[in-house]
Amino acid sequence: MNGVTGRMGTNQHLVRSILAIRAHGGITGPDGTTVIPEPVLVGRNESKLARLAESHGGLAYSTDLASLLKDDRYTIYFDAQTTLRRFEDVTKAIAAGKHVYCEKPVATTSKDGFDLHKRAVAKGVKHGVVQDKLWLPGLLKLKYLIDTNFFGEILSVRGDFGYWVFTGERQPCQRPSWNYRKKEGGGLILDMFCHWRYVIDNLFGNVTSVFAHGATHIKQRWDEEGKPYTCDTDDAAYALFTTDRGITCQFNSSWCTRVRRDDLLTLHVDGTQGSAVAGLRQCWVQSDATTPRPVWNPDIDSPIDFRAGWQTVPNNIAYDNAFKTQWELFLRHIAFNEPFRWDLREGAKGVQLAELGLQSWKERKWIDVPSV
Ligand SMILES: NC(=O)c1ccc[n+]([C@@H]2O[C@H](COP(=O)([O-])OP(=O)(O)OC[C@H]3O[C@@H](n4cnc5c(N)ncnc54)[C@H](O)[C@@H]3O)[C@@H](O)[C@H]2O)c1
Repeated sequence: MNGVTGRMGTNQHLVRSILAIRAHGGITGPDGTTVIPEPVLVGRNESKLARLAESHGGLAYSTDLASLLKDDRYTIYFDAQTTLRRFEDVTKAIAAGKHVYCEKPVATTSKDGFDLHKRAVAKGVKHGVVQDKLWLPGLLKLKYLIDTNFFGEILSVRGDFGYWVFTGERQPCQRPSWNYRKKEGGGLILDMFCHWRYVIDNLFGNVTSVFAHGATHIKQRWDEEGKPYTCDTDDAAYALFTTDRGITCQFNSSWCTRVRRDDLLTLHVDGTQGSAVAGLRQCWVQSDATTPRPVWNPDIDSPIDFRAGWQTVPNNIAYDNAFKTQWELFLRHIAFNEPFRWDLREGAKGVQLAELGLQSWKERKWIDVPSV
C-alpha cells in the first residue's frame, strides 16, 4: 500500500478498509475459502511509516518499493500517493506483474490513464480504481429509487458539492496544500470531475457533453509549515453535463462555499413522478401525490414548510464504509475471479471528463465527450 501515510491512505484505505476487513476475518469465497489481506505499508518517510505500522500492531513496512515489486508474496499494488506520482508507480507495478488498485485520478492526463489500462490488459493483470461514492448509503438509496422506477422519467440532476476549506492563515487548512498548486497535480476539476464521471455514468446515463466554468476564488493560502503561497489552480467549478438518457446534470463544486444544505454532497433528482435528494448517508423523497402547490407571493412568509414535505428513505439494510465495500469487491475479483467493472479504463474516463471540462472553461464552449 503506497502513499499509506496520507489522508486517504491511512483513514479510508488502511484503517477503515484493509484493517477492518482483517478484523472481520477476511473475505470468504463461494467454495468456503477465506482470504485475509496482508498489507505492507510503503512510503518515503521511514519514521512516519514505522509510527503508523506500530500504532496498528506492528504491520510490515518498507521504503523500498522496487524490492517489494519483485517479492512474490505481494500480489497487489495499491496506490494512494499524490496524483502526480501515480502513473509512474502503477506503470512499474503492472510491468512487475502485480494486480493494481488505485485512487482517482488514475493519472493527470487521460492519455496516461488509458495507457495504464492498455498496459494492464497487455500484461494480463487485474485492475481497479476507487469509485467510492457509488457505495455511499445515500447514493445506494438513490440507486434503489432509480431501479424501482420511483422517479418516472428523470428530468434533471442538481449536484451540489463543497464546503469552506480554511486558507491556513488563522485556522489550519483541512486539505493538503498540493491541492491548490497546478504543478503538484492540484485543482478541483481534476479532483472532482473524476467522481462526477462515474456517478453520472452509473446512475443517470453516459456523459455525452460538458460545459464548465472554473475559478480560482482564493488566491493565497498557507501551507503545512504555515508559509503563504499563491494558489494557481481552480478551487471551484460550475458545470453542466448531458447524458445519453437525455438527463441534464448541473454540478456546483467548490472548496470556497459555506454549507447550508443537507450534506457536503447532495444530489437533487427531479422526475415526473417524484423527486429525491441524496446526501452522503440519507436520502429524502417527495412523490407526485405529496408535492405541495406553491404560489408565488413575496408579501407574506411562506405558508409551506418545504422541508417538512419530504420523507426519509429508511435504513432497511446495514450500510458499510464505501471504500471497504469496494475493496471487498476488488479482493473478491482477485481471489475468486468475481466480476469487477470499476477498472482503469473507467478511471481514465474520469480524467477525460476533467480534461474536457478544463477545455470547455478555456474555450468558453460546450464540448462533446467522445465515447471510448
Ligand atoms: N476517493 C476520494 O474520495 C478521494 C478523496 C481525497 C483524495 N483522493 C485522492 O487520493 C490521493 C491522495 O490524496 P490525499 O488527500 O490522501 O493526499 P495526502 O497529501 O494526504 O497524501 C499523499 C500521500 O502520498 C505521499 N507522497 C506525496 N508526495 C510524494 C512523492 N513525491 N513521492 C512519494 N510519495 C509521495 C505522501 O507521503 C502521502 O502518503 C490523491 O490522488 C487524491 O486525488 C481521493
